[in-house]
Amino acid sequence: MKEAGEKFRPIWIDHPSDVVKVIDQRALPHEQIVMDLQSVDQVIFAIREMVVRGAPLIGVTGAYGIFVALKTSKNQASDAVYIRNEADKIISARPTAVNLSWGVNRIASAVLAEKNPARRMDTARRVAGEIAEEEVENSKNIGRHGVKLIEKIARSKQGKPVNILTHCNAGSLACIEYGTATAPIYAAQEMGMNVHVWVDETRPLNQGARLTAWELGKYGVPHTVITDNAGGHLMQHKMVDIVIVGTDRTTYTGDVANKIGTYLKALAAKDNHIPFYVALPSSTFDWTIRDGVADIPIEVRDPDEVRYIPGAVKSRDSLLMPETSPAANFAFDVTPARLVTAFITERGICRAKEADIKRLFPEKGQTPAR
Ligand code: MRU
Repeated sequence: MKEAGEKFRPIWIDHPSDVVKVIDQRALPHEQIVMDLQSVDQVIFAIREMVVRGAPLIGVTGAYGIFVALKTSKNQASDAVYIRNEADKIISARPTAVNLSWGVNRIASAVLAEKNPARRMDTARRVAGEIAEEEVENSKNIGRHGVKLIEKIARSKQGKPVNILTHCNAGSLACIEYGTATAPIYAAQEMGMNVHVWVDETRPLNQGARLTAWELGKYGVPHTVITDNAGGHLMQHKMVDIVIVGTDRTTYTGDVANKIGTYLKALAAKDNHIPFYVALPSSTFDWTIRDGVADIPIEVRDPDEVRYIPGAVKSRDSLLMPETSPAANFAFDVTPARLVTAFITERGICRAKEADIKRLFPEKGQTPAR
């Protein structure tokens, strides 16, 4: 595990070997395994099989994928067709998180703009590093802005814990260092506030139970893992003060794609008058899509992830249903903007409305920027 600053990083480039290294998140929380990404096929495998996962991290890994493509090319560093092909192959590894195409396209453009082919690999290494550092900075700023929301609730609770509910993993493991949804929580803890996190287990791959709980435990944040369907009950009984989640793709109109089940949490929060915030860096906005429910591509994964206990050897004991029952594995859902209280971005907090989002990011203008 690469320790950087106060929080860890799930991806880094090793010196002097120049090899891209990642934490294999499939093995957590029980084992900390480091995997080398030495070929584009390994990069694609790592993204598709969720060795790495979480929108910002997928974007950074995709960016490093172009570095790997150049490193492993034989006299092809000057070939624009090769670079574009490798970029498209990496982008197709997972469909929902827009950070992937954002990161890969940004680095591919930088590399292709480099007229001296001999310098392209250095450009790729440098730009991928810059993207990673920007996400670190974005997360810190999300924390800085978001902590004010927790602080306000903390004041009204007079020392009693602020109960925060989160879904999936939008922490250090999904991003770099502070995370998105977790950044305000870490900031609150660092400021000495009394916080407690309800962690949705996040079936079927249990990113909440396996990863968020592991991360919060490592940083000493009080938390409790709950089943995915417990949130509504807790909200009815005033055991949740605020919901903060991450996102894989958010339209410029404010619709939010995030891990399956997020929509139901937003509905329950609305019904119980509990604020529902979405934390995201600008790399997760999609400036081309207006209607999230209609147009955000939703990943459908292998039904066996639903049928069997994840991580267990496939056997009768790990099969959760009759052998003949079909299963479906929709990996994300879309929460319409009307259910989102506000966004926490690196530039500040804004309502989930087109005008407010564009006011915060005026350079994105009126026309699609991707
Ligand atoms: O399928 P995953 O584990 O990649 O899904 C991740 C999520 O849904 C996260 O909530 C999202 O990427 C936000 S990460 C800051």
